Amino acid sequence: MFSAIIQSLAEAISNSSGLSVDECLKLIEKPKNPDHGDLSFPCFILAKKNKQAPPLCAKELADKIKLPIEFSSVEVLGPFLNFRLNRANFAKSILPNNKNKSQREQLKVVIDYSSPNIAKPFHIGHLRATLIGNCLDRVYRELGDKVTSINHLGDWGTQFGFVWAGSKIWGEPKDPSVADLVSLYRKATGLKEEQEKKEISAENKDLPDVNEMARAYFVDLEEGKDYAKNFWQLCVDVSLKYLKATYQRLDISFDHYTGESFYSDKLEAVNASLKQVSLLTESQGAYGVELGEELGFARITTPDGRSLYLARDLAAAEYRAREFNFDRALYVVGAPQSLHFQQLKAVLKKLGRNFADKIHHIAFGHVLGMKTRGSGSFIELNEFLDEAFQRALAAYNSQVSKRPEGLDQNEVATAVALSAIIFSNLSKNNIKDVNFSWDHALEFQGDSGPYLLYALARINGVSEKAAIAGIKIGGNPDLSLLTENSAHELISVLAQYQEVLENTADEFEPCHLANYALNLAKSFSRAYQELKVVGVEEKLGEARLLLFVRTKGVLGKVLG
Ligand code: ARG
Repeated sequence: MFSAIIQSLAEAISNSSGLSVDECLKLIEKPKNPDHGDLSFPCFILAKKNKQAPPLCAKELADKIKLPIEFSSVEVLGPFLNFRLNRANFAKSILPNNKNKSQREQLKVVIDYSSPNIAKPFHIGHLRATLIGNCLDRVYRELGDKVTSINHLGDWGTQFGFVWAGSKIWGEPKDPSVADLVSLYRKATGLKEEQEKKEISAENKDLPDVNEMARAYFVDLEEGKDYAKNFWQLCVDVSLKYLKATYQRLDISFDHYTGESFYSDKLEAVNASLKQVSLLTESQGAYGVELGEELGFARITTPDGRSLYLARDLAAAEYRAREFNFDRALYVVGAPQSLHFQQLKAVLKKLGRNFADKIHHIAFGHVLGMKTRGSGSFIELNEFLDEAFQRALAAYNSQVSKRPEGLDQNEVATAVALSAIIFSNLSKNNIKDVNFSWDHALEFQGDSGPYLLYALARINGVSEKAAIAGIKIGGNPDLSLLTENSAHELISVLAQYQEVLENTADEFEPCHLANYALNLAKSFSRAYQELKVVGVEEKLGEARLLLFVRTKGVLGKVLG
């Protein structure tokens, strides 16, 4: 909505100044001080062109301009023109149905996110990938795009060899859990390190070469040997069951769990097309593609024929392009994999695949300070969610004094915990590191998920109180009464919803939506303090109620 208004203002300024509409669009801004109006136009560039003093230029432009109907006034302040919206008309155009018809064409979007590694620990980065990816997934769906969400599980590779070798050396656990598999993986890779450094501890003395065992196992797996396939299947079954249950706690689901193994029979085709254009060369003990100084040598297979991560991503990209014919393919993966995705795109381009330009690596920074038991930056996700729940319950009891009777505290704590984790992971630009702290994430009065829930709960309270007082919005409320500053400000924020969704999707930045939610909640809080619904003239009460009901609708959607 706002962009349409800005467009008409730019056209009006262009008509009376001789600047192009685009030039005007770039210059129009929101005044730093809201008392100065809704939009302003600095005249420096125009003045320079006209060889005039900026204040004089502003005055002449103000006299000439034909104000679009959305505006009620233009004032000159030094070198600036300040425009005020006609508040009554604005309210009437935004509130009756806050659905702005967007000009956007429907897109086919593939989102690859979360994608943890089976038989390896879940990394904190996977949690952030999961939350950023799921936010984008939901935003694109809300925009009406055709979304395919894919969990590209790390379910293929030599890591299974280490778990297998571990189970041979230390014994295969009966009915293994994910924790058992991860522990075997850790022990086996620990042993590999000792053996490589030739610093073998006493207990590991006479053990076989674990790297060789793992390597041989994965060769057998790729060749389809039964023992290897059975063990692999067991690991996958155990892990998938665990992962799906955990995703359910986060209310996340995927259209496809097509992990790396899914492409194992599609790798030959990749090799064949690379050979066909003579791209495959041998270097650094592997076959791959030479991409020059900046991107280096992209390794595709090992000399003994084992496929590497990039080979499987090439096959996946080809498959997705064919199957989903995407306009955008998003890969939500941490920044350390930037080179991998640059190489992926570069190799696809060398193969002449035009869809390479539609691939976007959504890189993100680290999460600092988010730890549970376990080591390094690995977390046990279920334990982490349990801890979040316990802390949320405690925060609710200590920070919220009015706790209605009969409320299911567990339900509240579950929602508060989720909102805290999600908001703290999304509120900064993807690429920035997140400094996670429980205290901050669970602050009901801070910039936090719980604060947003709290605002939503208060809006619900408004509707309930109004209903008790017999105030309804059924009739034809007079929206032109909504001209106070706080009402106008709230309506302005509501008017931005569609554009914020689009920016979030187009820039791949959930923080736009997270910050919008905060703005909306804060504008609501100010309006809520100033604008009574009950005990004022009936028409006014009805109009304000409609404003709050619309706010509730938008905030509810954003939190969703
Ligand atoms: N499993 C990988 C990891 O944990 C992430 C996979 C991301 N997706 C992809 N298509 N490469 O590092």
